[in-house]
Amino acid sequence: MTSPLAELLRRRIRLTGPITVADFMAEALGHPEYGYYKTRDPFGTRGDFTTAPEISQMFGELIGLWCAEVWRTVVAPQSVQLVELGPGRGTLMADALRATRMAPEFLTAASVHLVETSPALTAMQQEALAGHDAQWHGSLAEVPVGPMLLVANEFFDALPIRQFEKTGEGWRERMVGLDTNGETFRLGLAPGGSVGEALIPDVVRRTAGEGEIAEVCPAGLSIAHAIARRIARHGGAALIVDYGHAASGAGDTLQALSGHKYSNPLQDPGAADLTAHVDFAALGIAVREAGAAAHGPITQSEFLTRLGIETRAAQLLAKATPDQAADIEAALARLIGEEGMGYLFKAMALTAPGEAVPPAFEETAG
Ligand SMILES: C[S@@+](CC[C@H](N)C(=O)[O-])C[C@H]1O[C@@H](n2cnc3c(N)ncnc32)[C@H](O)[C@@H]1O
Repeated sequence: MTSPLAELLRRRIRLTGPITVADFMAEALGHPEYGYYKTRDPFGTRGDFTTAPEISQMFGELIGLWCAEVWRTVVAPQSVQLVELGPGRGTLMADALRATRMAPEFLTAASVHLVETSPALTAMQQEALAGHDAQWHGSLAEVPVGPMLLVANEFFDALPIRQFEKTGEGWRERMVGLDTNGETFRLGLAPGGSVGEALIPDVVRRTAGEGEIAEVCPAGLSIAHAIARRIARHGGAALIVDYGHAASGAGDTLQALSGHKYSNPLQDPGAADLTAHVDFAALGIAVREAGAAAHGPITQSEFLTRLGIETRAAQLLAKATPDQAADIEAALARLIGEEGMGYLFKAMALTAPGEAVPPAFEETAG
């Protein structure tokens, strides 16, 4: 099977040679016409994957209350930009705004900004947030500067990564080229070194053996840096929740999901979701270099449990029908259980240096 995007990529490779994994991923996800996120709604049981806000309203509600509490302790009485990066269907923000009705001063102080590149998802977010005064932007740089509370759930895992393999001659970048048939995408190695390898974390550089893969996410590091600079200068906080590892390590984590099943990431660009594990240690270094403080990461299980998800579930269960009760129990297990997202997913918070440690991160303060 061939798609217009696969054909465009083949043409590009034939003309200019193999492309980086990051270029392949950027086109597969973000091509203006045929990119995965540009064309479809990938969420839910009929889509390719489900995210925490789609599993339960409790997720967005607790994050909304986290934002209101950080505003009260760190930003009030100033106004604040409530920013979400990659809001998907808009469910998290809608749940957060509903939950914070119990903190009306926060709602009065907050202006809502959504950063999204997908026209299809922007339309869904506008529907989910109808009745709220929200603004949409194509990048964080377009959001007016000022104190900010920023949330990014499953945003960083969708940003393009570069991969490098350790060889006898040093690190060589993995490139996407074409098989001898001129049709099938395949991975190969660049013939020489590349300046991009400077981003490989020191610990990976020191410990990786021959044949092992190092991953770096230049876009993720630069966005984390930009968020941290704003927070260090103008105040507020950010919350990054994603799947990934607390410590940098070697390994190929690029994966494709289509119809809730894993597939070959190179097989059908634009038709499957491509993601990679987030390296929280690398993000933490970028944040500190930009002058902000990084707290955590802690597991999603710790984060939600410390914010009181079990109490919130008990409140919902008290009013639930038996069917609803089963759904609430299942959602809770999925969000905080080891078998579900509880341990693989992590939460990291950013604040200005010297500010109060945000709720749920107190025990990690060093
Ligand atoms: C996996 S979805 C997560 C959606 C949502 N946060 C959730 O938890 O349900 C990734 C989101 O990031 C958006 N996105 C991907 N790359 C982006 C970029 N460079 N700038 C802004 N949004 C982006 C996608 O369109 C989508 O809304």
